[in-house]
Amino acid sequence: MMQVGLIGWRGMVGSVLMQRMQAEGDFEHIAPQFFTTSAPGAAAPPQAGPGARLADAYDLARLGEMDAILTCQGGDYTSEVYPRLRQAGWNGHWIDAASTLRMRDDAVIVLDPVNREVIDARLAAGGRTWVGGNCTVSLMLMALGGLFRAGLVEWATAMTYQAASGAGAQNMRELITQMGVLHASVADALADPASAILDIDAQVTQALRDPSLPTAQFGAPLAGSLIPWIDKEMENGQSREEWKGQAETNKILAGEQVIPIDGICVRVGSMRCHSQALTMKLSDDLALDEIEAIIAGANDWVRVVPNRRDDSMQGLTPAAVSGTLDVVVGRLRKLNMGSRYLGAFTCGDQLLWGAAEPLRRILRILVE
Ligand code: HSE
Repeated sequence: MMQVGLIGWRGMVGSVLMQRMQAEGDFEHIAPQFFTTSAPGAAAPPQAGPGARLADAYDLARLGEMDAILTCQGGDYTSEVYPRLRQAGWNGHWIDAASTLRMRDDAVIVLDPVNREVIDARLAAGGRTWVGGNCTVSLMLMALGGLFRAGLVEWATAMTYQAASGAGAQNMRELITQMGVLHASVADALADPASAILDIDAQVTQALRDPSLPTAQFGAPLAGSLIPWIDKEMENGQSREEWKGQAETNKILAGEQVIPIDGICVRVGSMRCHSQALTMKLSDDLALDEIEAIIAGANDWVRVVPNRRDDSMQGLTPAAVSGTLDVVVGRLRKLNMGSRYLGAFTCGDQLLWGAAEPLRRILRILVE
């Protein structure tokens, strides 16, 4: 059996990964070795078998015994350990949730329902480095990969509504704490049906701006507001999250021509689902039902939501898809700009298809 080292399995993405691996019976196909950066020698999870112990995640010799290593430990760990392990001659499969290695020529961004041929070709050529994509990009391609793969997208803009989970577990806690502070600031007035809404609003705004509102994680209020910047500043005015849209999409698709993709990435007060409003210029004037069929037929998880008010309100939201593998696409219609301009809205769980699931699946592909 393939010996697989697991690192960062206790964090948020790692925990989702463990749940999914358990649910899909993945542990029956591998010999897992759990690593730790903090408590080597402690008892390992039951999937490792009776009496198994945690190994030291910085022990290069032990890591080097693995056929594959799957890490959700983060970019600093990857930067420290990956080059040393490769320099020491280790030729196993490195599977990574962090972005550190994503754009390297020898790394494949894995999203097998969209780029299985790219994965297979690289595997046949001796590829050993497999990296999960940016969550927004992976979710967009799970939703609209059918159009991209059919060569129908001339360009696209993605305006995003990104969940707190994309920023981390502490950020999710901070979002809820902010919600609680805002509610507490007006709880009495809210309970009184005769109170004036503008007074309530003024108090909420005051609480939003009060320096005591916890903002250590996000750096700004998110509850009752939004944050129109995600990740670092690039020199061209894009955020790094926006830069990834074109760079990673094109790397995943590995097509001959670069498809221009750009947009504005925004953090909103959703828990773990990223949503995106897209405008696409299509290379062909297809009928809407043909477009819907191409989108819906692209993989087993994408679901087209009819462009109707009730369907959209009930089915095309973070509340509807959170915690599921469904990637929903709706609001599909031709825009006023012309019959080759398509509008779409999509939503998917950032921790599942946006992070853990592509990693779980590449491990299964490597095992088989
Ligand atoms: N960068 C993403 C976000 C998450 O901040 O939402 C990881 O892909």
